[in-house]
Amino acid sequence: MAKDKTIFFCTECGTEFPKWMGQCTACKAWDSVVEAPKAKPVAAGRSAVMRTPSKAVTLKEVDLREEPRIDTGMEELNRVLGGGIVQGSLVLTSGDPGIGKSTLLLQMCRNLSERGVSVLYVSGEESLAQIKLRAVRIGECGDSLKFLSETDVENIAEQVRTLRPGVVIIDSVQTMQKDDSSGAPGGPMQIREITAFFMRMAKDENISVFLVGHVTKEGAVAGPKILEHMVDTVLYFEGEGTTSFRILRAVKNRFGSTNEIGVFDMRADGLSEVANPSEHMLRGRPEDEPGSVVAVTMEGTRPILTEVQALVSRTSFNLPRRTASGTDINRLNLLTAVAERRAGMKLFQCDIYVNIAGGLRVTEPALDLPIVTALWSCVNNRPLPPGTVVFGEIGLTGELRAVTQPLARVREALKLGYRTCIMSKADCDSIGGNAPKGIRLIGIRSVRELGECLSK
Ligand code: TYD
Ligand code: MG
Repeated sequence: MAKDKTIFFCTECGTEFPKWMGQCTACKAWDSVVEAPKAKPVAAGRSAVMRTPSKAVTLKEVDLREEPRIDTGMEELNRVLGGGIVQGSLVLTSGDPGIGKSTLLLQMCRNLSERGVSVLYVSGEESLAQIKLRAVRIGECGDSLKFLSETDVENIAEQVRTLRPGVVIIDSVQTMQKDDSSGAPGGPMQIREITAFFMRMAKDENISVFLVGHVTKEGAVAGPKILEHMVDTVLYFEGEGTTSFRILRAVKNRFGSTNEIGVFDMRADGLSEVANPSEHMLRGRPEDEPGSVVAVTMEGTRPILTEVQALVSRTSFNLPRRTASGTDINRLNLLTAVAERRAGMKLFQCDIYVNIAGGLRVTEPALDLPIVTALWSCVNNRPLPPGTVVFGEIGLTGELRAVTQPLARVREALKLGYRTCIMSKADCDSIGGNAPKGIRLIGIRSVRELGECLSK
């Protein structure tokens, strides 16, 4: 490199600029561009990959080895990881603060230590006493699990060299520091360098490293998003508001599918796995009440039965209220308009509340028909026949459209004892002769037929 040229970068998103400016053109943050000497940062991210010269080969010459996997002792977590932890992989676990990332990883470490895998849990946020308090809640840990309260990455590397663990947890990447780094502590540049550092550690020493990353208030730029391209696997841990229901999703996975989800319930003694989410979601559902409909939604490749509730009441304002919790409000407005125009439902001057019970957030189109059915049931004050499930997408002309995986949805409904399934004619036809015995499939073409089909 010629001379030490000064460059500028945005502390929010890490974009570099040749000159200072008041607003970052990439993330639109104000007053976030600061001066930085252009030195090592670019090299830091690359050196992990570009060390040994390599030769181009054909695919035939590539050995396909099963990656050795470590069982985490939790089925839900194993599935999301693609069958267990891959040795030498770097996994980023992100989610809102307080959602349960530390708890999940600590439970995983406990299980690993019971299996004799040596584990190092590094916390930069909590003191050893705080970790102990949490560990007491989730149960006994084996002796192969060691804890370290440290924020300096070189000291961590030192400990890793002495202890030689199989799995290392870094909680969290935002609290780590690197002395020779050019960026500000906690800033995007330093976080990137630290991630590259642990990537190198994972690959060189064949250790599986889990990084915890908090999602910052805007949810995107300054947080773990800027690291996603660097790591092997990105897991998101999420939950709705105050409910104890948690979903672990793989949004990127070099060693497995990103369609899998893991479902957990946060209890007083840690996270417990929910092997049958449908049962969990429907617990306490009112039977024979107007405005309550059981919908079949898909979370990745897993069908989940959820309850959709609607309440329609006369408004006392000029502008009726529309409230959707657990689903998209704009979609509710659209469906209300379609129900009014195409199915003749009188929703004019009515407040409408729709709720997805159980704490799941569903935005898939297959929820359209269940929402309109719940509205219909409430407006007409008629409960749905017992044992009925509903799914289907609705278009603007009121037509019912096909959704993904109708057969998997029908099977899940049958498994939970449902005997009637209302769906689009297109889905009903596509299932055809494959329909499982014991469940009646009713296919309708448009929302106009809904009232007729439910009045029978
Ligand atoms: P934590 O794992 O610290 O979240 P994160 O690392 O994502 O910030 O978990 C935080 C919340 O979980 C905390 O508010 C308390 C709750 N919790 C339980 O309900 N039960 C438990 O057994 C534990 C350990 C935590
Ligand atoms: Mg934590």
